[in-house]
Amino acid sequence: MAVRNIVKEGDPVLRSISRPVTQFDERLSVLIDDMIDTMHRADGCGLAAPQVGILRRVVVIDVGEGPLILVNPEIIETSGEQLESEGCLSCPGQYGVVKRPAVVKVRAQGRDGAYYTMVGDGLLARAFCHEIDHLDGIIFKDKVITLHKDGE
Ligand code: NI
Repeated sequence: MAVRNIVKEGDPVLRSISRPVTQFDERLSVLIDDMIDTMHRADGCGLAAPQVGILRRVVVIDVGEGPLILVNPEIIETSGEQLESEGCLSCPGQYGVVKRPAVVKVRAQGRDGAYYTMVGDGLLARAFCHEIDHLDGIIFKDKVITLHKDGE
């Protein structure tokens, strides 16, 4: 596993649409492992492939219960809403309240291509939405209600 460079705000890769993964091969597995390593090293709870410069629909999330791997993830059901502060490893030092669903059900593939569904609430629901947004070139600041920067 290797730590990759995290792309920062302003890089056009963060505004691009990621392509679906079609090949579940060793190259994908290496990307996933590197993303998990990079997320953990940066103390983040989620990372999307475009944040390491790869325009493929791959997300990793760890809200403290071990890493989740989401390949070609889709939100298939949401309910309720939550208003909490969030940040992004690509926008260091910036935080803001974003309205997200309270409960989110996703369908995704694992590293072997097998489909699964998972329901998350709280921070996990927020992470599903935040990271899947990255795959469509959306960052949390597009949806933020009030933005705060460190030192302000
Ligand atoms: Ni982010």
